[in-house]
Amino acid sequence: MYYPEEVVEEVRAKNDIVDVVSGYVKLQKKGGNYWACCPFHGEKTPSFSVSGSKQMYHCFGCGVSGNVYTFVMKYENYTFPEAVRMLAERAGVKLPEVEYSEEQKARASRRARLLEVNKEAAKFFYFQLRSPHGTTGYQYLQKRELTDETMHRFGLGYAGKNGAELVQYLRSKGFEDDLIKEAGLANFSERHGLVSQFWNRVMFPIQDANNRVIGFGGRVMGDGEPKYLNSPETPVFDKRRNLYGLNFARTARSGNIILCEGYMDVIAMHQAGFTQAVASLGTAFTPEQANLLKRYTDNVLLAYDSDGAGVKAALRGIGILREAGLTGKVINMKPYKDPDEFMKALGREAFQERINRAENSFFFEIRILESQYDMSDPESKTKFHREIAKKLCEFTEDVERDNYLQAIAEKYFIGIENLRKLVTTYAAQTGLAKPVERPKSGIQQKNKPEESAKKSQRLLITWITDEPSVYGKIRKYITPDDFTEELYRKVAERLFADMDAGNFNPAGIISTFEDEEEQHEAAELFNTNLPELGTKQEREKALHDILLAVKKSSYEYFSTRLGSDVNALNQVIEGKKALEELAKLHISLD
Ligand code: UTP
Ligand code: MN
Repeated sequence: MYYPEEVVEEVRAKNDIVDVVSGYVKLQKKGGNYWACCPFHGEKTPSFSVSGSKQMYHCFGCGVSGNVYTFVMKYENYTFPEAVRMLAERAGVKLPEVEYSEEQKARASRRARLLEVNKEAAKFFYFQLRSPHGTTGYQYLQKRELTDETMHRFGLGYAGKNGAELVQYLRSKGFEDDLIKEAGLANFSERHGLVSQFWNRVMFPIQDANNRVIGFGGRVMGDGEPKYLNSPETPVFDKRRNLYGLNFARTARSGNIILCEGYMDVIAMHQAGFTQAVASLGTAFTPEQANLLKRYTDNVLLAYDSDGAGVKAALRGIGILREAGLTGKVINMKPYKDPDEFMKALGREAFQERINRAENSFFFEIRILESQYDMSDPESKTKFHREIAKKLCEFTEDVERDNYLQAIAEKYFIGIENLRKLVTTYAAQTGLAKPVERPKSGIQQKNKPEESAKKSQRLLITWITDEPSVYGKIRKYITPDDFTEELYRKVAERLFADMDAGNFNPAGIISTFEDEEEQHEAAELFNTNLPELGTKQEREKALHDILLAVKKSSYEYFSTRLGSDVNALNQVIEGKKALEELAKLHISLD
């Protein structure tokens, strides 16, 4: 950790969350909490709540939660150390000098440092573009009809021809050579030492959904190779799990997301008002990216290039979207090559028209299939119809399959009964049409046993923090070890210890985690949506059920580990006893 835990905690305690948040958004008091429209997703009625007693915020709309640190990190796009420094200054807390020593820096979280060096590099490129050295790049972007506002919004920059400048600049900001190298910003050469990876390119900083710069794409000026050079994968740059433009698209609230192939496509679309456009990062669209999109929409429109490679990529993309349980449609860009060219030629209204007329992905697949057959040859035509039947077998739901069957039969002038027979034949042969249990959508995954165990554990932690008096009643039956998820266990250990010592401080626990993802997950633990329960009896029953579920899942967890875990036997014996007692126990919530 950058700063000692006590200091982090002192700074947090001295920055009341209600005060800090109200500096950014207008809060209204209602009941015990303060409310506002969520600053992290677009909304018109307030579902973002800030609790003075818990010193936490939670949005019932998009689910974000956290403490004062995670709030400024998210809002200001700060790393954790930056948030500590900002809030320390705000509260007049002097941070210990020693923390700036070389040794401390070396121990600082690598990820945070990588994000910092990326951010600094993005600044460098940004200013280069706007300096006399950047004229080439600036003129290039102007020629591509980008406005200053767009260039600013996407933080576009320029890497000049002198590959040493970036490195000098980053060194002057205190970044070590190996960090600069690890971030993929520079390479070491025998002749020249450390030189910038990017030169003579306009630079596209790639941001994650939280606006942090995780990597770069650079487009060469002129015809050099490669046309686009991207940062290599680094600990902060995972190309499979991020999408260009998602930081804006996630709040676009347009009811769909448009998936493009290139950075310039995304930017041209945003400039035209389609802020729901995203692109993969110089690699093919992945299942991980599909799942990421699923958090924001069910409808994905593909705006891939209209050439052969684009069609191929679209077909692959459709499959991935379908696997993830998303509805895909294909936007026809013809006669233009890509959204960027389309937009320049025909503009936003024409594009909106194309969105409205986007083709159902199944029809798209069949249309592409058709082009491979010769419809004037009965032999070839029959083969085409067989392929259609096979594809129809992929629908597991009878109603859906039949609807498609009817539509396709009509469209391609196939006798509907003939096609139905063909489908039945294939279904009988391969068994494909039988609904198979495929745990692919997020909803189904949530029903997995581990997921429901985790959910009970989350509910219990939220309940205890919402109603600390419950803790004394359950302490006898539950130990931190019952929280089988590692991060949950750490939180429980800390929470139980605090509670035993009589100081109750969930907001402080969040910042004992170094990693931002972990902070986020820990915050969620304190903000599960508890079931709305009316009567005392209902509440008592719910708490009892949750306790039993937690104990039972821990019992099962340790039972399967009897051979391998020395701790397990004890847990199993204790767990069995507690389970029996719990089954009989009546918890009273007076
Ligand atoms: P395209 O070749 O279609 O480029 O590549 P484009 O987006 O139309 O680019 P402009 O309009 O000529 O500037 C699409 C995407 O594929 C990746 C990039 O992410 C690019 O945006 N790509 C392409 C690379 O990563 N490397 C390359 O050499 C080319
Ligand atoms: Mn293009």
